[in-house]
Amino acid sequence: MKAISFDEKTRVFSLRTNNSVYQMQVRDYNTLIHLYYGADVGDCEVDYRIVMLDRGFSGNPYEAGDDRTFSLDVLPQEYSGYGNGDYRINAMECEHEDGSDAIALRYLRHEIKPGKYALEGLPAMFAREADEATTLDITLADAASGLQVHLLYGVFPKLDVITRAVRVLNAGEKVVKIKRAMSMAMDFPNMHMDMIHFYGRHAMERQMERMPLHHGVALVESKRGTSSHQHNPFVILCDHNASERSGSCYGFALAYSGNFRCEVEVDQIDQTRLVMGIHPYHFTFGLRPGETFETPEVIMAYSEHGLGGLSRLYHDAYRSNLIRSRYVTSPRPILVNNWEATYFQFDDEKLFSIAKEAKDLGLDMFVLDDGWFGKRDTDCSGLGDWTVNEQKLSGGLKRLVDRVHGLGLKFGLWVEPEMVSEDSELYRQHPDWVLRVPGRLMSRSRYQLNLDITRKEVRDHVMDQICGIIEECGIDYIKWDMNRSVDNVYSAALSADRQGEVFHRYVLGVYEMMERLVTQFPNLLFENCSGGGGRFDAGMLYYSPQIWCSDNTDARDRLTIQYGTSFGYPISTMGAHVSACPNHQTGCTTPFETRAVVASAGTFGFELDLTRMTAEEKAQAREQIRRYREIEPLVLCGDYYRLTGPYEKKNYIVWQFVSKDKRETAVCGVMLHGEANPHIHLIDLDGLLPQARYQDLDSGRVYSGAALMKAGLPLPIARGDCQPILFRFKRVDGE
Ligand code: DGJ
Repeated sequence: MKAISFDEKTRVFSLRTNNSVYQMQVRDYNTLIHLYYGADVGDCEVDYRIVMLDRGFSGNPYEAGDDRTFSLDVLPQEYSGYGNGDYRINAMECEHEDGSDAIALRYLRHEIKPGKYALEGLPAMFAREADEATTLDITLADAASGLQVHLLYGVFPKLDVITRAVRVLNAGEKVVKIKRAMSMAMDFPNMHMDMIHFYGRHAMERQMERMPLHHGVALVESKRGTSSHQHNPFVILCDHNASERSGSCYGFALAYSGNFRCEVEVDQIDQTRLVMGIHPYHFTFGLRPGETFETPEVIMAYSEHGLGGLSRLYHDAYRSNLIRSRYVTSPRPILVNNWEATYFQFDDEKLFSIAKEAKDLGLDMFVLDDGWFGKRDTDCSGLGDWTVNEQKLSGGLKRLVDRVHGLGLKFGLWVEPEMVSEDSELYRQHPDWVLRVPGRLMSRSRYQLNLDITRKEVRDHVMDQICGIIEECGIDYIKWDMNRSVDNVYSAALSADRQGEVFHRYVLGVYEMMERLVTQFPNLLFENCSGGGGRFDAGMLYYSPQIWCSDNTDARDRLTIQYGTSFGYPISTMGAHVSACPNHQTGCTTPFETRAVVASAGTFGFELDLTRMTAEEKAQAREQIRRYREIEPLVLCGDYYRLTGPYEKKNYIVWQFVSKDKRETAVCGVMLHGEANPHIHLIDLDGLLPQARYQDLDSGRVYSGAALMKAGLPLPIARGDCQPILFRFKRVDGE
């Protein structure tokens, strides 16, 4: 069956992936009505779901004449506008020159095209081959203003993913101000679902929260100019009884790294509407006749196989059709980062001594974090001055890079391109290059200000400096940090009536800078970071294959942070390092082995002073590296199963990687506490072939896949807190 079809007679659109169907219908008065999204329903149009009733206080469009059953206030719509008789949360709001704000969107035409639509200057999923995806472009028009709204759908049948975005064209003759243009809206016929979202704070990101939908509006949002530590732009709606292994689950991921809003409203008759897109706060975008505006993309997936099934769809889709980096599935260099080892206190000899130890341990890369440039001895100064601090690095950065390269290690470098310190040469020379509201005192954060990267000359100045250093020194990896929320939102370069564009233009500026980086240096390994995981979103993954997951490196806290992150993002995207104990963020102590097992569920590395490790710790580290290399292909390319979670009141948290060919599996986790007179904890594995035989690589014992999945595997008996769990099995039946 075709990925996208339109029945001329019934005017029903059907979008199909291997296991899901999406339907909508052009109905009376050319309104586009949403019919269904969910499990495959065979070759059947489900317009019978729409039941027309006359409801009090739910009015009718004029075109409906005396038909009091046709009300936009209750019909499920594909993309609705305000001022149009629909009192629910709508997808679009505009302001016209005469001060009115109504918008009535009606079907005009559509086009079905091979391949995947692209968005200008915005991240989006792509099709490597034209037959991987099909695009549907439906034009809705507001007759009175001439505004045309293109609803864009990208259907990826094999991935079970449908993307949505909106392109607005002012085909009228007057300026229209867009005040809200969400990337998508979706109506569900009932409210019998839970909403799962991922909230948090700096150093404690993406904590999973699950709650039943309720009448009124549930929302997650960011107004911080970034997708934020506080809420993640990824939301799941699922059956009340959906579990890891079963139940109906919908995922909505916004590929955008700025202000966002996801609103879920349950209406008067228990219908649910979800809208997602750029946050309308401080957002207006003026469109002159002929101008267009594109929203970011929402990546939707549906799974009948529970939360685990949904996560695996996202992991596969992002690895194959979102992350562009050539490193996406290839082994990443195992690195040591000097941040927690030295903070700002280092010189080239100290750094080189860490690099030498790294070489001795078998690591692949040394990463120089914050503090190598300008007058940067604390976090009070220096940002914006991307020239090497030769007092710390005698002979310059290139000399150090050459010495590290001489060891046979790669060299990585930290930068924070969007920022400037008040105490910096850049700020002294260009005080107007920051975001600052005229006549008001600025809000400060970590002594740094947001550069006004809505301005091209600012972007170019910073990127010229940074790219020059990468080029000159032969840098192999960049960690791009961003350490404050965006504030003082006003650009001296934009007129008063365009200030509502600043937040969005800031994000477009970030994307343009990152695009330059990845285009100019296609072999560079690029890691994103915003004070850890403050910008962990699908948009960033379009540019970088990995993101520093959190500034919290405590293995115990990482269990919930990485667990939450795994719902919407591939494991290979989470930067995870073994750090020193007592942990610098929490003061807690966990065994070295446990820190390594937890960091192995991500892009593995070390973040401690290697020169201070004991001989015994070094021997352990060598073994950790060896073991990580063994399971790395599973981490990068395999299927991931959350066997238990941190909210289950169990004494263990266990996850499992299975290779796509089901020949190898690794079972990893942590026993939280030692028990007196202990229980025997049996864990059921997942994702194996029941009839195949798997050998435990440590004990040599052979099990059937069915036994491991149905009869369970006894977890180790723990002595002490936070003990590591690690089993590796290989298929040995010769098949
Ligand atoms: C925040 C990052 O998340 C840390 O890893 C480190 O790079 C610091 N910034 C440096 O200022």
